[in-house]
Order: sequence, then C-alpha cells, then structure tokens
Amino acid sequence: KRHLISAADLTRDDALLVLDTAEEMARVADRPIKKLPTLRGRTVVNLFFEDSTRTRISFEAAAKRLSADVINFSAKGSSVSKGESLKDTALTLEAMGADAVVIRHHMSGAPHRLAYSDWIGGSVVNAGDGTHEHPTQALLDAFTMRRHLSGPGRDLAGRRITIVGDVLHSRVARSNVLLLGTLGAEVTLVAPPTLLPIGVEDWPCEVSYDLDAVLAKSDAVMMLRVQRERMNAAFFPTEREYSRRYGLDGLRMAALPEHAVVMHPGPMNRGMEITAEVADSPRCTAVEQVKNGVSIRMAVLYLLLGGAEPAVSAPAPART
Ligand code: CP
Repeated sequence: KRHLISAADLTRDDALLVLDTAEEMARVADRPIKKLPTLRGRTVVNLFFEDSTRTRISFEAAAKRLSADVINFSAKGSSVSKGESLKDTALTLEAMGADAVVIRHHMSGAPHRLAYSDWIGGSVVNAGDGTHEHPTQALLDAFTMRRHLSGPGRDLAGRRITIVGDVLHSRVARSNVLLLGTLGAEVTLVAPPTLLPIGVEDWPCEVSYDLDAVLAKSDAVMMLRVQRERMNAAFFPTEREYSRRYGLDGLRMAALPEHAVVMHPGPMNRGMEITAEVADSPRCTAVEQVKNGVSIRMAVLYLLLGGAEPAVSAPAPART
C-alpha cells in the first residue's frame, strides 16, 4: 500500500505486519545506537496544520532513526497564514522532493484529498484529520495493548476494550474502533448521549452510558480528552457533572480487573476525564504509549518507503 489514511485501510494481516515490524523497531530503540540506515536519501515532510506535541515529535524521531531527511512544516508562521491553499503547499513540497508527507489537518478528509490528488507523488500518512481518524494512534494503542494483554500469538481477539468520553470529536476513538474490530477485540464506547456521533449504532462496537457497569469486565479502559475547543459550550455538561459520571478516579480504577490497564492518547485534561492520581499511577500507560508511538511510526514509514530491504539486519555472527 502507498498511503495510510484510515485504520480501515488495514487488513488484519497488514495490521499485524505493522505491529510485528514495530516490535523489531522497538528492539533497535533499546540498542546503544538507535539509528538504522534504511531510509537514507529519502525525504519525509511533517506537514502540520494543527497543533501537536506527541505525533509531530514522534514522526520526526521515527524518520530520523531510519536516517531519512526530515522537513518540519507548521502552518503557523508559513504562507498558509497568507491564504495559501493545501494544493499550492503540496506542490511546493513536491518540488522539494518529498517521498512521504505526514499530514495533520483540522479538516476531516484533508489527507485523503492530498493522497488522491495529482499534487504529490509520494506516500501520505494521516497524522490526525479533524474529527475523522488518527490511524497511527490506533496502531500504537494496539501495540501497547498487545504488550500488556495479549496471550499466545500476541492476539487481541476477545479482549474487552472500553473507550470513554468525547467520542463525538475523537478521531482516536473512530480509528481504535476500526482497528480493534479488525484485530477481533470487543469494544464498548461509553459517553453521554450528547457526545456520541450520529450513526454510532452502525459502528462495529457496543455503546453504553454507564461507566460503572462496564469497568469490571474491561481489559483496558481508554479515556478520551474532552475537546472543548471543538464544542459549542451550550451542549457541554458542567466539568463537575462530567467527571462525576464519566471521569476515571482512584475508586473507579479499583473496580477494574487486576490485569487491566488505563490508557490515554494525550494530551490529558487532569481533573476532567482522568484524575491526577490515575494519570500518575503505574497502571496508566500514557507515557509508554508515546514511546511506542516512535516504534509504530518507524514501522509505518519503513513499510511505506523501505521497499524489500530487511528493516533490521540480523546481528553479525559472534567471532570465534
Ligand atoms: N495523541 C496525540 O495525537 O497527541 P498530539 O496532539 O500531541 O499529537
């Protein structure tokens, strides 16, 4: 495949290939020299029209660890503020010889528009578009779950994953529902009715309005950021009411099975969807998810651009 726009682009075999390749990349990250020569001479452009900390930095780290040249573009401070279009921005990047463009955009569908235009010839990776999708986040979440939860064959089939909160505005939720469904996990969304999207009944998951009813049967609970910047304040419950019904605090965490993990894609609203006590507890994988994001993004860039070369060469035989 040439692009990664949606988690739905991935068959089960594709997803497992990315996850297994990311395991190899993670082993490289543990070596004293973390770099591979695989993408030497290739250029990766990080094209960010919307703010990001984790995704932007980890794509940059991933490309650099594969020895690619990296160009970081932020819409703030660029000619986008003078009205330059996505097309003209893309043509400029194409002129610079981009082999891959990693794009984050506030408009749902922008990465698809870029990928299936004739503006650029390289691969396009969706790094989060509006309220639509964030496929590499779902991959790093699945990678993190596999490390904590999966049994023989690192299989997530039958694992029960609860995703809680502002599903309406969450590209992370949509990509996770799609990918976890492909991997055979059972997903339950928990949210107030006003924070669920129209048509959610057609998504491949269950829906509940009662967090306390599902905690005891969850293998992982993923808390979503409440995206107040995308909301009409009139439709939003008070902060206190929201955390009382849908926030994860120490008491609710204690209702989870012993093996269950708490996940959050970040950035977190501490005190809103998650208390500081839970965010800082050893059961919360938020920081580990960021670390795993580098391995996943290395795997994605390698598989899109790396061709047939092995990602990680076998260690040299020991001298005798
Ligand atoms: N999880 C995530 O996408 O974080 P950033 O917005 O900081 O990239």
